[in-house]
Amino acid sequence: MKIGVFDSGIGGLSVVKSLLEHQLFEEIIYFGDTARVPYGTKDKNTIIRYGIEAIEFFKNFELDLIIVACNTVSAYALDEMRDSATCPVVGVVEAGILACSNSLDKKNSNILIIGTHATIDSRAYELGLKTNNFTTITSKATSLFVPLVEEEIYEGAIVDASLQYYFKDIDREVDALILGCTHFPLLSDALQKYFGDKTKLIHSGEAIVEHLQKQFDFTKRYNNPNIKFFASENPDALKKVAKKWLDI
Ligand code: DGL
Repeated sequence: MKIGVFDSGIGGLSVVKSLLEHQLFEEIIYFGDTARVPYGTKDKNTIIRYGIEAIEFFKNFELDLIIVACNTVSAYALDEMRDSATCPVVGVVEAGILACSNSLDKKNSNILIIGTHATIDSRAYELGLKTNNFTTITSKATSLFVPLVEEEIYEGAIVDASLQYYFKDIDREVDALILGCTHFPLLSDALQKYFGDKTKLIHSGEAIVEHLQKQFDFTKRYNNPNIKFFASENPDALKKVAKKWLDI
């Protein structure tokens, strides 16, 4: 399978990391809209327009599947992107809701969703979980985590202060924490330490792998896939981060 992975910038590489770990695909075309990141502060119509433009970009390649790694785009633009695409399009929000549902036994489990302002405002995770009969859901936009990760700050005083700032009024007895943003898996250690080992972190990359494995039959494994990186601005910077994050 030849797939496209779309993100607003570099964050979607955290999803690519999971795809590589599971060796599912032979060819991956990554497109990060680095010229227009962040999407998490933009409004619905802009996010939909950018999502459709990404589909147009991917039409230059004959793809079998497009993965929308960006939570913000997945929350707002999936239907419109599917309408414009000539191959299936899957998003991380749907996958995250399923992964969260599958990981919890009780419908009153305490779920915390974190993401960009746009993702939290969309209520996409919250409504999906409510449809699955979960009752105890808290949502919190934690946008400062995005620039922290972009600066490669994953621990220390600023991270601790940000955790305090965002979560001071939030019960630490969280059963599942949805990392509803591509960047947040890089803060997993800090978040796990803050909430404790009992909290299950739901990671978009792992969730999409689980979701895809249910939909497609992956008989072959590819341990040396062909990956091409494209960016709307400064592709070399994206490639540099990819090398570091993906160890390639
Ligand atoms: N990729 C975005 C997301 O997962 C985070 C960065 C942004 O705001 O564009 O929501």
